[in-house]
Amino acid sequence: MRILVTGGSGYVGSHAVRELAAAGHEVLIYDNLVTGHRKLSQGFELVEGDIGDTDKVQKCLKGKDAVIHFAASAYVGESVEKPRKYFRNNVESGLKLLDAVLASDVRSFVFSSTCATYGVPRQLPISEDTPQEPINPYGASKLFFEHALAAYNVSHGLRYAALRYFNAAGAHPDGTIGEYHDPETHLIPLALKAVLGTKPLLKVFGCDFDTPDGTCVRDFIHVSDLGSAHVKAVEYLANGGNSIQANLGTGRGTSIKEVLATVEKVTGKPVPHEFVDARPGDPASLYADPGRAREILGWSARFSLEGIVSTAWDWEQGLPAFLP
Ligand SMILES: NC(=O)c1ccc[n+]([C@@H]2O[C@H](COP(=O)([O-])OP(=O)(O)OC[C@H]3O[C@@H](n4cnc5c(N)ncnc54)[C@H](O)[C@@H]3O)[C@@H](O)[C@H]2O)c1
Repeated sequence: MRILVTGGSGYVGSHAVRELAAAGHEVLIYDNLVTGHRKLSQGFELVEGDIGDTDKVQKCLKGKDAVIHFAASAYVGESVEKPRKYFRNNVESGLKLLDAVLASDVRSFVFSSTCATYGVPRQLPISEDTPQEPINPYGASKLFFEHALAAYNVSHGLRYAALRYFNAAGAHPDGTIGEYHDPETHLIPLALKAVLGTKPLLKVFGCDFDTPDGTCVRDFIHVSDLGSAHVKAVEYLANGGNSIQANLGTGRGTSIKEVLATVEKVTGKPVPHEFVDARPGDPASLYADPGRAREILGWSARFSLEGIVSTAWDWEQGLPAFLP
């Protein structure tokens, strides 16, 4: 298949691009590099552009069979401080991208959604039928886009897969691409940077949650596993599959303390950290029921937590060579 990948120069997108290429698909990356990196797209064709530039997107859509849409603003905390940025980029520009798609022959669309659309779930594990009640503008912007896809499916025959990721983590096992966000807000890279001394003491938010060890529980999913789910989803749609919303997680809840213990095991060093107050609105536990992705897409996660941390550790140690 020939696939347009928006946001393919970012963290998750660059790993998905590798999985798509390995499965024999032809990829064109479309990215404005606002948070992405040219180096993460090395070896692939990249068109530098904004998803809101409908004319430019339309040109890139010629001859394509599908779109995979990663491009977005993706910091929960920032979305609370700057909601206009999130609604502009993820909703307004996202809708312009959809206009370009509807003006083309493409009718298969894979979307990066998120567990943040669920907000604070009333029961665990989180299935796709759990009510979607986001508690921040980031989650709300992603949920809006899911609604737009559902409506365009009915009115324009646009078949889609909305893939709701849990916590993406890890790096490509070959060490050439990985997570490089600035600022970095994710736990595992911050823990590894604290070990290396390239970032200060890790702050752990909250130690008296209603969880077995008092720290938050999350579902960490390897970024290459996310990538392979996109291959399955785009092939499922190409084979005539109906639109689907699917969680992408391991189904395992892992506490922050367990992550820190794994980082210490993998690196052989202590993680300098301190406990600080919990962030308002941070749910105690979030983990997926990944059954639908397994049953309908034939996908499941392969990497263990140790695999996630060790690939991230290899990447983190090589990061100085990657940086400009
Ligand atoms: N990382 C996670 O844990 C996680 C979890 C759930 C969902 N997601 C979603 O996955 C997607 C990728 O996340 P990521 O962590 O790789 O983020 P990222 O910032 O590394 O990647 C986003 C990419 O999109 C590009 N981009 C942003 N706005 C654009 C625009 N208007 N036009 C063109 N390109 C644009 C950026 O330059 C970047 O390359 C996002 O949609 C995010 O919401 C990520």
